[in-house]
Amino acid sequence: MPQTIWREIWILVGIAITSLVLGLITGRLFLIAAIGFGLYIFFTLRHLQRLRHWLRNRQQAEIPDAGGLWGDVFDEIRQLMKQTENREDRLNDMLTRFQSAAAAMPDAMVILSQESDIEWANPSAGRLFGIRYPRDAGTRLFNLLRDPDFVQYLQHGDYSELLEIDSPENSEIKLSIQVTPFGSLQKLVIGRDVTRLARLEQMRRHFVANVSHELRTPLTVLGGFVETLGHMDQIRMEDLKKYLATMQEQAVRMQRLVDDLLMLSKLETAAPRTHDETVDVTALLAGLKEQAELLSGEQHHVITVETDKSLRLLGSREELLSAFSNLVNNAVRYTPAGGRIALAWKAAPDGSACFSVSDTGEGIALEHVPHLTERFYRVDTARSRASGGTGLGLSIVKHVLLRHDARLDIESEPGVGSTFTCVFPTARARRVDHPVSGIA
Ligand SMILES: Nc1ncnc2c1ncn2[C@@H]1O[C@H](COP(=O)(O)OP(=O)(O)OP(=O)(O)O)[C@@H](O)[C@H]1O
Ligand SMILES: [Mg+2]
Repeated sequence: MPQTIWREIWILVGIAITSLVLGLITGRLFLIAAIGFGLYIFFTLRHLQRLRHWLRNRQQAEIPDAGGLWGDVFDEIRQLMKQTENREDRLNDMLTRFQSAAAAMPDAMVILSQESDIEWANPSAGRLFGIRYPRDAGTRLFNLLRDPDFVQYLQHGDYSELLEIDSPENSEIKLSIQVTPFGSLQKLVIGRDVTRLARLEQMRRHFVANVSHELRTPLTVLGGFVETLGHMDQIRMEDLKKYLATMQEQAVRMQRLVDDLLMLSKLETAAPRTHDETVDVTALLAGLKEQAELLSGEQHHVITVETDKSLRLLGSREELLSAFSNLVNNAVRYTPAGGRIALAWKAAPDGSACFSVSDTGEGIALEHVPHLTERFYRVDTARSRASGGTGLGLSIVKHVLLRHDARLDIESEPGVGSTFTCVFPTARARRVDHPVSGIA
């Protein structure tokens, strides 16, 4: 038995003995015993009353002090209180951390009651769902999110598949909705912004449709010829050569398309280069000029080159050559016979290094310029296709330049001509000991 119980027993025994002795002396045993035990009961009741008072006014009053058994009881209660306070502190701490984590979440989170009333929502729910907490607490969710698909989804109760809806705050934002039931028929609704993914998915679909469309024409032509030839019993050598030439043309076109697609995919997926070469662009220009003259053939374009021989470029020779030759090919293909094409490689006054191709060709209307680097974009689809274009050339240029921290500036005027300039940052320009500039 604890020591304090023994103390109480000794007090009671003490009261009994004292009452007996005093009662025997005074002859009023009963009265004295009643006074002694009465006092004991009075103090006990007083402690009980203090305890009751404290329990009722726990927030304001201090826990009472006492000795003996009551002191023990009060100490025990004090310890219990401390433990509860610590637990509460820890819980509050966790709650604060949870709330700050939920507030920092980019996803919208809403907790719904069994009746689909809003119990809690994080700040992102305001941006994506238009639900402000605590303003909308207690409001039925369907009053704020009225999308019929969403209402049906939430009421149906099968949440195995995610739902996609437009954000009621901004129809440009696409949301993926996930509902998780928990507790006593409550629900956690999570809305994730999937605009970027939806856009990528759309781009992918367009891309596949475009590639199929581009491949279909040459394949149809090839298939048609093969079928015709198969049905022929006799054929003149001259006709056969003509057919075969057309078939080869279509095969070359498909080959070009596949090569360009592979090049694009390589540029997009390749890791950033860790080692750049110092590319002698002046040397590249000599090859590019020859290539342009070959492509021009009978059209006799006037092709000039102006180059800063001491200016070199840090980058990938192969990628740069592919980009530059795309620009030069375009200039030749979209400039009428006899037109002028000027290739230039020089430093700009701000130190950046510029490769430019100017032509006196047909030019491009302003509204097309922002779209030129999109895959398969052509100003005149039929003409570009007829001349063997895949519509991927400038996309390749854009990706090569991106990998070289460079940009493509396009200046063009219909009927006057165009200038395509690749602007490389100063950090990629290098000087070597050579004559400063010259006309090649
Ligand atoms: N120098 C230019 N002058 C006029 N129009 C141009 C010029 N360069 C490009 N264009 C226009 O921009 C479009 C896109 O060019 P891009 O190089 O991406 O494709 P393409 O030349 O049609 O095909 P590819 O280069 O893949 O063979 C072209 O179809 C053409 O209409
Ligand atoms: Mg091109």
